[in-house]
Amino acid sequence: MKNIVLFGAPGSGKGTQSELLIEKYGFKHISTGDALRAEIKQGTELGKIAQGFISQGKLLPDELIIQLLASVYDALPDCEGVIFDGFPRTIPQAEALAQMLEERGKRVDAMIELAVPEEELIARLINRGKVSGRSDDNEETIRQRLEVYKAQTLPLSNWYEKAGCRFPIKGIGTLEDIFADISKVIDAL
Ligand code: AP5
Ligand code: MG
Repeated sequence: MKNIVLFGAPGSGKGTQSELLIEKYGFKHISTGDALRAEIKQGTELGKIAQGFISQGKLLPDELIIQLLASVYDALPDCEGVIFDGFPRTIPQAEALAQMLEERGKRVDAMIELAVPEEELIARLINRGKVSGRSDDNEETIRQRLEVYKAQTLPLSNWYEKAGCRFPIKGIGTLEDIFADISKVIDAL
């Protein structure tokens, strides 16, 4: 079973490309953002906490996310692979993921990084905000999310480079072209 981290800034296409990967490879998908939005919808304790962080474009505390991740991962049925979308987002989260996988005799096989220029990210998310209903898809929060990404998440790019499993991909162009580049990486694993 492959463990693939799909990495990139808000709006880089992680969710979009995940859907194509699920369809082609039968992978399972863990999106911490989707999981948190589901908790908010159900009105759980975690959802109540998450709401404030998400609408302000800030990250939730690592401990909460790491707990959520392990319970979601262990609940997955047997499958060809797992895509991590929106996790890890900090170095402690990456360390926790490495440890969790190691305890289960596994590892991150590839960290695929979607590179998209900032102006394109902002345009995509403003556009998505017209229909998404997401509390974080407004220009002010989008800019905050991008700042948080640069400060807290982007250092992971180098972290995975050092770990020897980072595969950068050009994240602009047609969905199909980007997906073909991602598929090449996965097929070679
Ligand atoms: P999360 O839900 O993970 O959001 P995000 O990382 O900000 O990313 P998005 O979902 O906005 O973008 P995406 O990369 O999935 O792009 P998409 O495919 O939709 O996290 C939300 C919040 O939850 C965080 O801010 C935080 O508060 C909290 N959270 C989540 N995980 C956490 C964690 N691990 N730790 C702590 N807190 C956490 O595409 C975007 C748009 O572009 C779409 O409209 C799409 O149609 C379009 N598009 C996609 N590809 C292309 C293309 N090639 N050309 C043109 N348009 C395209
Ligand atoms: Mg997403």
